[in-house]
Amino acid sequence: MAAAVGIARRVAAEVRRDVAAARDRDPSARGVSAVEIVATWPGVHALLSHRLAHALYENDVPVLPRGLATLTRALTGIEIHPAAEIGEGLFIDHGAGVVIGETAKIGDNVTLYQGVTLGGTGFVTGKRHPTVQDNVTIGSGAKLLGPITVGHGAKVGANTVVITDVPPNTTVVGNPGHPVRVEGRAPEGPDTDWIHLPDPVAEAIEGLAGRIAALEQRVLGAPNGNGAKATEPAKPLRADKGRDPAGG
Ligand SMILES: CC(C)(COP(=O)(O)OP(=O)(O)OC[C@H]1O[C@@H](n2cnc3c(N)ncnc32)[C@H](O)[C@@H]1OP(=O)(O)O)[C@@H](O)C(=O)NCCC(=O)NCCS
Repeated sequence: MAAAVGIARRVAAEVRRDVAAARDRDPSARGVSAVEIVATWPGVHALLSHRLAHALYENDVPVLPRGLATLTRALTGIEIHPAAEIGEGLFIDHGAGVVIGETAKIGDNVTLYQGVTLGGTGFVTGKRHPTVQDNVTIGSGAKLLGPITVGHGAKVGANTVVITDVPPNTTVVGNPGHPVRVEGRAPEGPDTDWIHLPDPVAEAIEGLAGRIAALEQRVLGAPNGNGAKATEPAKPLRADKGRDPAGG
């Protein structure tokens, strides 16, 4: 009896924390009753189900943990492996398409948006999924792959692909994910501007286009390039005398 009361108290506390996390981090949950959040927020459903599946998994109960995870995926679009370790205050916004792998570890007060994958990179066994420390935000569609660590307070931009560790309090974006803010400031130094890197192929094409435009202008005797039309028709490239240089 005492054990049942203890479990009920623990579950009630967990639900309260889930509701608080939704209210804190989902603007559309402000002013919504706790009952409505519990009844209609898929991220909350997925967490409730995962806690039960994880407890069953830890106690070596067969079949049921995976069965629960599969049912939850069908209902919410969120797939959490029963073995995944999840801290307090996780908030999964919208939910659909979220995958959290078997050896993933998530700290406290983490926020995940839809389409986030905490996955492995191949067929290796053992620890192969990310560790996400406290207070991390991971944007929609972001893929975090391999046994990397995302440091506390880090932000991962929407659609970022992360395959290396992310230092604490750092914002990473792009593919591959690279830092654009460290402790709130743009990183400094010659190699830190990943967004405006020179593109040697584009520069070569631009150079060739310039030379072609200059040649056209000389051949046609009229301004060309930049889309301007030649004022007279092109003269044939034929020598005045002798054989046709085009050969045969
Ligand atoms: C990355 C993010 C968390 C912002 O973090 P931040 O630390 O406040 O960083 P900033 O907004 O100052 O952006 C830093 C730089 O990264 C760029 N950037 C931001 N998000 C980006 C993204 N997802 N992909 C590529 N570049 C991005 C910005 O343009 C800026 O570039 P600049 O330095 O050239 O100006 C935010 O842009 C993001 O992607 N959040 C996810 C939100 C989400 O998934 N919402 C779904 C709701 S349904």
